[in-house]
Amino acid sequence: MKDVQRIAIVDPSDATREELRQVLLGMDSLWLEAECTRYEFFFDVISQSSPDVVIVSLDSDQNKALQLIGQLTQVNPDLPVLAVSAKGDGNAILQALRSGAKEFLTVPVVIEDLLKALQRLRSLGHGLRPGPNGGPGYETNGKGGAATPKQQVIAVLGSRGGVGCTSIAVNLGATLAQQANHSAALVDLDLALGDADVALDLMADYTLADVALNVERLDMQFLRRSLSKHSCGLSLLPHPVQMEDIRLIREDSLQRVIGLLRASFTHLVLDLSKSFSATDVAALHTADVILLVAQLELSSLRNVVRIVQTLGNDEALGEKVRIVLNRVGGDCDISLKKAEETIGKPIFWQAPNDTKLMMESRNQGVPLVQHAPRSKLQQSFLGLAQALCGTQIEAPVKEKASRWAMFARR
Ligand SMILES: Nc1ncnc2c1ncn2[C@@H]1O[C@H](COP(=O)(O)OP(=O)(O)O)[C@@H](O)[C@H]1O
Ligand SMILES: [Mg+2]
Repeated sequence: MKDVQRIAIVDPSDATREELRQVLLGMDSLWLEAECTRYEFFFDVISQSSPDVVIVSLDSDQNKALQLIGQLTQVNPDLPVLAVSAKGDGNAILQALRSGAKEFLTVPVVIEDLLKALQRLRSLGHGLRPGPNGGPGYETNGKGGAATPKQQVIAVLGSRGGVGCTSIAVNLGATLAQQANHSAALVDLDLALGDADVALDLMADYTLADVALNVERLDMQFLRRSLSKHSCGLSLLPHPVQMEDIRLIREDSLQRVIGLLRASFTHLVLDLSKSFSATDVAALHTADVILLVAQLELSSLRNVVRIVQTLGNDEALGEKVRIVLNRVGGDCDISLKKAEETIGKPIFWQAPNDTKLMMESRNQGVPLVQHAPRSKLQQSFLGLAQALCGTQIEAPVKEKASRWAMFARR
């Protein structure tokens, strides 16, 4: 279970308090610790509930609200105050900040803005501490709760059809989802011909098209209801069933969906198409890391060179690219060294070839972490997950993991 940020709100207006409540209730990463309808009772409420952040609505009585913010920040300087008001003018913002509020949002509160504000509060030191063994930052609720890994969006991009993107996306997602402190989702962005739903044997009620159609009124509860969950823990948002619905998925809608999913899961895996469509490019921009999947054969390697060059034209994209060689050990006459020289970039990871096992797993719709957790192929996916997380994650079979760790080249 993810660690949560505990929130207390004070807002005498039932209508705006309810709106805010609905936004907060849809978020796994937030916990509505307390609600208060009177400014004068709020001190008592928070002394009994100990929130991480408080939200003060200014609109019912601005003077009382500002006075409360002033007192709160004096008595509890470490407790950040987020002020909200329908008046988004400079004066209201200035007064709230002068009283001691750390952040200001206009009503109605938009979920992404709220998440960004809370993220900024964390980065100011409210609930952020270094990860174990000097690893990447881990977020906490500031109260010594269990650490949560940093969120990561991982795009899986192919260098030609059938190179193994879906196999890697599904198995990496399933491996990440199995960790106790992780939550993972997979979005199938191979909009026309994707088959992540088949690989996970899921009959989804909703697809990316339903979510994109409702993007204007999208909230976290709606989005989460639209996901299908596999027994391994991985959630899936599949591609549209009808080909004609692909046009419903615009880049801005997709960015919004990814933004919300990013806030709700520790790991988000994007299985891209091979067409470099506008949605693929939008997805690449949202990613923290791009796994460019290749095989040791000419057409794949030639395309890797072209893709690395194209993505390299955009500095922000180029530096995210990691080369993953799939089906290593199968029939190929190009050496690893030759491949690296050709690409001009090191190979980040190698996954071995196991046609029978992968075929079984794909046909049964059961990821390897459940189907064959001890297999070399699954151990390689575990190693890849660890390499991406930058930390040791729990291995079902640790001794085999170390053998396959030899494949890591960073
Ligand atoms: N490491 C592997 N070993 C053996 N077969 C694999 C491996 N990775 C993928 N495959 C097989 O290759 C085929 C294409 O894989 P897929 O993941 O659907 O590729 P893509 O999504 O890039 O089109 C599938 O039949 C799959 O079983
Ligand atoms: Mg695929």
